[in-house]
Order: sequence, then structure tokens, then C-alpha cells
Amino acid sequence: MHNFWKKLKKPIIALAPMAGYTDSAFRQICREFGADVVYSEMISVDGICYDNQKTMRMLWHDKSEYPLVFQLFGNDPIKFKKAVRIITGSLRSLELGRDRLLLGLDINFGCPAHKVIKTGSGASLMDEKEKAYHIIKAVCDNTDLPVSIKIRTKVKNTTAEEFINRVKDLSWTTVMIHGRTLNQGFSGEIDYVAIRKIKKLLPDKIVLANGGITDNQSAIRLLKKTGADGLGIASGALGNPWIFSQIKSPPLAKREMPPILHLGQRGSIMLRHAELFFKNNNNLIPFRQHLVHYVKSQKNASELRQKLIKVKTLAELNKIILEISSLLPSATTTIR
Ligand SMILES: Cc1cc2nc3c(=O)[nH]c(=O)nc-3n(C[C@H](O)[C@H](O)[C@H](O)COP(=O)(O)O)c2cc1C
Repeated sequence: MHNFWKKLKKPIIALAPMAGYTDSAFRQICREFGADVVYSEMISVDGICYDNQKTMRMLWHDKSEYPLVFQLFGNDPIKFKKAVRIITGSLRSLELGRDRLLLGLDINFGCPAHKVIKTGSGASLMDEKEKAYHIIKAVCDNTDLPVSIKIRTKVKNTTAEEFINRVKDLSWTTVMIHGRTLNQGFSGEIDYVAIRKIKKLLPDKIVLANGGITDNQSAIRLLKKTGADGLGIASGALGNPWIFSQIKSPPLAKREMPPILHLGQRGSIMLRHAELFFKNNNNLIPFRQHLVHYVKSQKNASELRQKLIKVKTLAELNKIILEISSLLPSATTTIR
């Protein structure tokens, strides 16, 4: 079986999945800034099985995103089997040729959201190792796309090590491990030792360490302390897709970026991202949540946020960006 993961140069720097954020436009802009592989938002296998149109639209993507991994969540091996057959079939029908070989499927074993856990999906599956085993098997047996999984260092009664020991003989290729427990949620210390143990257990699989990467230093620290094959970056990329260029050494990066961007440069990237989003959605209202991330660390963030949360059109956004840029002495610098 072809496996794009094996061809990626290490360290692999991935955009980690984020529900509500890692849509096609965001994945495209992260790829433009050098992300090696991008994950979709989590997609419900129940939604796929019931042909829910909103769910099916989450499979929409652009070739420029490849390599692209669709992340699935659910709680039933039979539904996973059905959903994976539907997805694999519908991707095949797109007649992508060899490009199809740049797609992958991922299974979510890390989501802590109450509405996900209460259905027995996400992180709660790490405690149900037998069911998790059959879910992974159902996915691997019913697709020719490479399969990956995403886990946490620990959930209620199960450590990552125990979980991996149960499922490691299945034919999946890659694991992204969020270095925090279910209890920790999305903040707190990263457990480097737990991630390192997983890499030791899996010499022949790819291990991506995830959690707390905000810049070059935190990225290098996580790689060195865990011995992982690569990294997954989630919240550190919000309003900050150029983080991929900053982390990768310049010869690898598609665009070389300075460590700190001024507001004019941020504006230019924001506009590019907005254009991609508008092209797909014909509407900027759902994009406002991205816009506020672009200005969150600025001195006058709250004033800018007030303007950005009212944006409806690209012209309005452009006007705000021009206003911002005209206040800056170095605003003529362009990176587009
Ligand atoms: C807004 C948001 C949405 C997320 N959605 C998902 C998701 O759909 N699937 C998943 O496996 N993890 C999801 N995560 C977890 C991230 O992929 C990642 O594991 C976590 O945020 C830690 O990485 P970070 O410190 O780089 O943010 C989400 C995180 C955030 C902040």
C-alpha cells in the first residue's frame, strides 16, 4: 500500500486537527507557510453514515492541501467501517489519480468535549481498549488510505503506553500524541517522558508530539525531549499560520519569515486567508473567529477586535487592514 507518511522528510511538522478551525481555507494557508501535512476538523462517522450534508461537506478540499488527513470520530466499529467505505469510495470517484495517494484517515481518541465523551467517542475510547482496537481494525481493513490515530498521554484509567500496547500490531502508520491527560484538557505541562516512551514502543511507526508549541524554541524543545518524528501544532497556528515557516529551517520553508510580524504583514496574511475562506463559503461571518486570533497579541487588540467582529465583506476587511497599515511606518513591507 502506498503511504505518503513514509515519504515525508523528518521532522514532520503537521497542522493538528481543530474543530471549527481547520477547514479547507485554513489548511491551505498553513500549507502555503510550509506545514508538511494538515488535518481536517473532526468529522462524525454517524454523520457520514446518515449522509448528513453538513458532515459530507467537511470532506470538501482543494488539492493544494495535500497531504491531507481527514479525522473521524465515533464510537461504533460497524459505523466506522461503513463511513470509511463511503469516504474511500467518494474520494475514488473524484478521479484524483496519483493525488489520491496523498490523503489519509485519522481516528480521534483524544477529544475531551463533554458532548463527544458522553456518546463514548473521543478520549473516552482510550479507556475502552477492545472497542478502540476494533475501530482501528475496521478502518485499516476498509480503506487503502494510510491510517493514523490521535491520543492523549492518559485518560481516566488508561495510559498512552497501555493503549498503544493493545493496538500497536494493527496496520496504522502514525500516532499524534497530545502530551496532556484528559484531566488537563488543553492547558498545563506537557509530559515529555510519556511521549518519549511511545516513540520507544513504536520504532517502525511515525510519532508526532503535540502540545504547547508557540514558537521555534518550544518546537525544538518538544522534539528534543521526546525523540518524536515530528510535531503537531494546533492553537499556536491560530491567527499565526506563519508559525510553520518560523519553525522550519529556511531551506525547507516555502516562505522565509521574520520572528515577529508587524501588523501590516499580519493584515496581508489575514486578507489572503479571508480570500481563501470567502472563495469556499461566499460569506465572512463564520470567519470572524479567525480574524480575532490575528490581532490577539496586539497593543490595541480590543479596538481592532471590535471592528473585525463586524466584518461582512472582503472590501470591509481590506479597508480595516489599510487603516491599520497606514498607521505603521514600515507598512510598505509586503510578504505576498
Ligand atoms: C479549538 C480547538 C479545537 C480542537 N479540535 C480538535 C479535533 O477536532 N480533533 C482533535 O483530535 N483534537 C482537537 N483539538 C486538540 C488539538 O488538536 C491539540 O491536540 C491540542 O490543542 C494541543 O495542541 P496545542 O497546544 O498545539 O493547541 C482541538 C483544539 C482546539 C484548541
